[in-house]
Amino acid sequence: MTMGEELRAWLPAGGFGEELYVFDEVDSTNTTAAALAHDGAAEGTLVVADHQRRGRGRGGSRWETPPGTAIALSLVLRPSVEHPQRWTGLGALAVADGLQQEGLAARIKWPNDVLLEGGKVAGVLAEADWEGDRLSHLVLGIGVNVRRGSVPEQGLAFAATCVEEHAGRVVSRVRLITAIVQALELRFAQLGSARFLQAWEERLAYVGEHVRVEMGQVTWEGRLLGLGAEGEARLLLADGREVSCTGEARSLRPVRSGR
Ligand code: BTN
Repeated sequence: MTMGEELRAWLPAGGFGEELYVFDEVDSTNTTAAALAHDGAAEGTLVVADHQRRGRGRGGSRWETPPGTAIALSLVLRPSVEHPQRWTGLGALAVADGLQQEGLAARIKWPNDVLLEGGKVAGVLAEADWEGDRLSHLVLGIGVNVRRGSVPEQGLAFAATCVEEHAGRVVSRVRLITAIVQALELRFAQLGSARFLQAWEERLAYVGEHVRVEMGQVTWEGRLLGLGAEGEARLLLADGREVSCTGEARSLRPVRSGR
């Protein structure tokens, strides 16, 4: 069976992924999904590719998706505009949920990275298309390193890992995609709720630890307290002030003594 046939067999009818596009190769699944959304694709339309020629990461970085090794998926969503800061968290939380189905306890490095034992295993790129203050669509792109060949060997600002390294066995990409897409559907329905925020916060990495958050020109260092009402990272600074960092932050890093 092809990956597309397998996915069709695994994804429940009538839910996210009912409209499914599977490619051997694309430039970026986010670009393809955005074009489909622009042409009126329904909410829940799913684009999956085995290989991305020009995969994109946050902040204009490249995202490698070598063939046969990783998951590259993008989902078309048309959410209400009330909670835009939660959109990235939605992707990260769904990946963590999906990994839990594989018996793996993932943490979320705020705002958009998913970690297994401290190494980055997945990233989320949420791209919204606005017409004035009206949201035309949101594309939620998710990249997961599954096999060893998907982990870039150099040029990374943060240590990377892959799912199979931690599972200690072969992991089916189709099964993991299915679990992530089902989690996306479930969590999307909870997006406006306190329950969503609680689930996100429960998965948060480095809570209680000293972290550094880069926000444009400003860098904050302090103890990570948890999430604010919209999913901002709350930091307690050394002078006792509390600051909230929005999802526009470039990066969050643990600051450990001796480093
Ligand atoms: C990051 O951590 O910088 C975000 C990486 C997001 C990568 C995914 S792979 C599927 C989708 N298509 C892309 O071009 N990017 C996202």
